[in-house]
Amino acid sequence: MKIDFLTLFPDMFSPLHQSITGRAERAGIAEIRAHDIRQYTKDRHFKCDDVPYGGGAGMVMTPQPIVDAVRAVDPDGKARRIYMSPRGRVFDAAAAKELAEENRLLFLCGHYEGVDERALEICGFEELSIGDYVLTGGELAAMIVADALLRFVPGVLSEGSADEESFSAGLLEYPQYTRPAVFEGRSVPEVLLSGHHEKIAEWRRKKAEELTALRRPDLLR
Ligand code: ADE
Repeated sequence: MKIDFLTLFPDMFSPLHQSITGRAERAGIAEIRAHDIRQYTKDRHFKCDDVPYGGGAGMVMTPQPIVDAVRAVDPDGKARRIYMSPRGRVFDAAAAKELAEENRLLFLCGHYEGVDERALEICGFEELSIGDYVLTGGELAAMIVADALLRFVPGVLSEGSADEESFSAGLLEYPQYTRPAVFEGRSVPEVLLSGHHEKIAEWRRKKAEELTALRRPDLLR
């Protein structure tokens, strides 16, 4: 899986080079690159934004540096192109699984009041949102999407980990415990110490259903 990010702030992407996604990178399972859009501007002052036509607050990212960056990074149009925006389809576990099937992804991270619409049209970007709130830029949103989808790329997690967690069966995850068996007077549920796999699976299923009914009844509908 190759993931490219187009951004005005390439240094923001260091978190993806850490922990599990960083390990996937070092193992050659994921290739993660952040490209500075400013390197592609033809403006002599390196400007990448301008005032909106029609007036209004804030600045809009100009189309030329974006279109040239896309053409340089993905010259054959092999990548699925995604613009992070609160206007987009709302990202969820199903979308993460779907994106994990792709070989190449190209994320455009906007800043200021957005990007010139023509850049999105020319490059064929689909839009993706991480929720109904507005961030100062698309970088954190793109990293969230990349992290969540990489978990579904084979080899990134230990086998089975992505199947047994929240949302995998449309339910929230059951409570987990580890050693010690008693901590500050609180014991681990007896059944988990029993070694009885069927009973454990049944208990976990019941707990997952109870938690989902309590906290996210919308998931059960
Ligand atoms: N950029 C700003 N807000 C965003 C959001 N909610 N989702 C994706 N990209 C964004």
